[in-house]
Amino acid sequence: MTEQSSRIIVGETEADLELRSGTIGPDVVDVTSLYKKTGLFTYDPGFSSTASCESKITYIDGDEGVLLHRGYPIDQLAERGDFLETCYLLLYGELPTAREKEDFVYRVTRHTMIHEQMSRFYTGFRRDAHPMAVMVGSVGALSAFYHDSTDIADPHQRMVASLRMIAKMPTIAAMAYKYHIGQPFVYPRNDLAYAENFLHMCFAVPCEPYRINPVLARAMDRIFILHADHEQNASTSTVRLAGSSGANPFACVAAGIACLWGPAHGGANEAALNMLTEIGTADRIPEFIARAKDKNDPFRLMGFGHRVYKNYDPRAKIMQQTCHEVLDELGIKDDPLLEVAMELERIALTDEYFIEKKLYPNVDFYSGITLKALGFPTAMFTVLFAVARTVGWIAQWKEMIEDPNQRIGRPRQLYTGAPLRDYVPVDGR
Ligand code: CMC
Repeated sequence: MTEQSSRIIVGETEADLELRSGTIGPDVVDVTSLYKKTGLFTYDPGFSSTASCESKITYIDGDEGVLLHRGYPIDQLAERGDFLETCYLLLYGELPTAREKEDFVYRVTRHTMIHEQMSRFYTGFRRDAHPMAVMVGSVGALSAFYHDSTDIADPHQRMVASLRMIAKMPTIAAMAYKYHIGQPFVYPRNDLAYAENFLHMCFAVPCEPYRINPVLARAMDRIFILHADHEQNASTSTVRLAGSSGANPFACVAAGIACLWGPAHGGANEAALNMLTEIGTADRIPEFIARAKDKNDPFRLMGFGHRVYKNYDPRAKIMQQTCHEVLDELGIKDDPLLEVAMELERIALTDEYFIEKKLYPNVDFYSGITLKALGFPTAMFTVLFAVARTVGWIAQWKEMIEDPNQRIGRPRQLYTGAPLRDYVPVDGR
């Protein structure tokens, strides 16, 4: 990283600040000394112009629609690699050699079971609980079960916690699903690949054999790759902020899951499918487009728009292709939701409002239809996002903990409340 100086002038106040350049992407003005030098803070509540950290993991060029993990384009990873290879890349910085991959897969596979006591934990939840509520609780509870990997100062424990989390998340998610639908838990099978095992734990029942369909397993694996990491998004920033205080990684990931749940973030795939269902038929699309444009209507086209992408989300292109592959494999010829989705996309991409605001379909637009075809109920969609994103959260958390300059995250504020005033006893108010 190169460093130069830049002069900032605000009214009468001037200060020299460092201008820092990364390997690619815009330069950043390092404002860490701004307050000391000028007595001023910066104000950027949605972090629209703020780089919250330095990172070597993921790069996004939102204008060009580019997403790179450790320099590799997402389409190459999704089309030619597999999810555990992507996990290794995110965690260690390089693609594994054949031997490293074998060892990594072995280590992840040997951690897929969860403590038996944890399965009883589930019965404390209502059956109709949203699976994301169960995820927040049960992932947070991992720190109560794996004390031997919560010392964040120990690199070995950090790595054990990371592998445990990547390995156990599908098991925890599948159990949340099984509990939700009232079926018995299905234990992981170590002879199956990561995505295969997940489908098995979700869809196998004790009374008949479950046959893995390789096309569907590949689609599942691809969905995991597409959601593995996405730079400093809301949930990742939540994990980093929680971790900056020294909290253990299980607790930090539980915080990330809570943040992911919201409809503006991971909850959008569920919301997008609900919206497509509500639209129902292509002839109703203009009505919904008009609502999306109406300033007085809070309605938004779910699965459209992104804080960073002002171009087609590169993940959405692969997701669309995967969606077609899954529907073809399952012989779903005329899925009405897909028809509505494709027509909605066509209309939105040619509409002046969406063009001007650079609102393109994001990854969540087609993932809902694909997950529904795979057999998942909508309530599980964000859970699957959480399973995939766990590696991103954990890689970013590890990077932060291993940064020698790491300090607790402590933003400041612009105070607009009452100025100093004296307490008035209740009988005098
Ligand atoms: N439909 C209609 N108008 C929209 C939409 C949309 N989906 N998204 C943004 N706009 C408009 C918005 O009304 C605003 O208009 P104006 O300038 O006239 O006030 C303008 O576009 C900019 O929107 P913003 O809310 O300032 O942008 P943001 O960067 O704060 O929000 C977003 C990004 C993703 C939250 C937003 O686009 C949105 O709510 N999209 C729908 C939810 C969604 O699909 N989320 C998934 C994101 S991708 C997966 C993930 O990262 O979790």
